Amino acid sequence: MLALSPELKARLSQPLKIDSFEVKSRVLQSPLSGVTDLVFRRLVRRYAPQSMMYTEMVNATGLHYVKELPKIMEVDPGERPISIQLFDCRPDFLAEAAVKAVDEGADTVDINMGCPVNKITKNGGGSSLLRQPEVAEAIVREVVKAVEVPVTVKTRIGWNDKEINILDFAKRMQDAGAKMITVHGRTRSQGYNGNARWEWIARVKEILEIPVIGNGDIFSVEAAVKCLEETGADGVMCSRGTLGYPFLVGEIDYFLKTGEKLAPPTPIQRLECAREHLQALYEYKGDRGVRQARKHMTWYAKGFLNAADLRGKLSVVETVQQGLDLIDQAIEDLARYEESGAEMQAECVVV
Ligand SMILES: Cc1cc2nc3c(=O)[nH]c(=O)nc-3n(C[C@H](O)[C@H](O)[C@H](O)COP(=O)(O)O)c2cc1C
Repeated sequence: MLALSPELKARLSQPLKIDSFEVKSRVLQSPLSGVTDLVFRRLVRRYAPQSMMYTEMVNATGLHYVKELPKIMEVDPGERPISIQLFDCRPDFLAEAAVKAVDEGADTVDINMGCPVNKITKNGGGSSLLRQPEVAEAIVREVVKAVEVPVTVKTRIGWNDKEINILDFAKRMQDAGAKMITVHGRTRSQGYNGNARWEWIARVKEILEIPVIGNGDIFSVEAAVKCLEETGADGVMCSRGTLGYPFLVGEIDYFLKTGEKLAPPTPIQRLECAREHLQALYEYKGDRGVRQARKHMTWYAKGFLNAADLRGKLSVVETVQQGLDLIDQAIEDLARYEESGAEMQAECVVV
């Protein structure tokens, strides 16, 4: 049975201190482009009210040229703790964007130095900053000067296996004024393949004074505990494990606080959550929200009878009503199936 060691319990009993800002949870919801909008965060927060969440990454150059804030930067009034994540390679634009992020309500400003996508790296942003540590330092220094809130960095362990420079890079970020660093234990060239190499997170933790958050392959409570134990990290950040499963951050947080595991949601509960997610995305973004919801719906529809068939249908829904009808029908089918199973069991007992 999974248990928290006394050492880990003691280590995690204090709030996570990001400079003067305190967070009462050691589990964070990562920034996920196209996913962690206000609607998704509301769902995650229901189960993990004290956890730090991140907006999707926001392009600082884009912000410089527009008057209105993009929807991806929107934060619920009073939504806390919340970090707005920015990406770019220009210190001046990032500093300007950080001011806007704080005006919108960000408790911390995070700089993306880990995105592997070509479109971002060829313009000098994301993980390409691992190859330009001087630019990364200048960015952190400028942003720190521009805002009162803590500035944090999220990055990878290096560009490729020949260029794993996270130890030097992380130290530079701390010296430039970053107040927390999240390390995704993969190189840029790994993309999302292979295992996250948590041993590098442990080595970063050994040499820094600021909090270090472990990221990569946290798909379960067990993985979170293992990562915290093996790396000594100050917290863990969940990413792909939350796709279609906004319960994960709350499940881990609950275990770390109580030593007890919550019962996982049933397939019907997951579908009810999918339904709510779809409806809310539609209300927030209209038909564009429905199109965005398709991928979410397919992530929810997993691990039960006829789920593959449902996924196929949900991936092409045109209207919110179509999606809701499909989910309602699936819930009804599952309930009927469960009932018939219970009846069969009861009959067996009688016989
Ligand atoms: C769909 C998707 C979108 C992502 N968007 C962002 C992003 O906007 N900012 C960021 O720092 N990382 C982003 N990431 C990376 C994740 O935050 C995380 O570092 C990575 O998935 C590793 O964690 P995992 O192995 O638990 O998924 C994204 C990853 C995925 C799969």
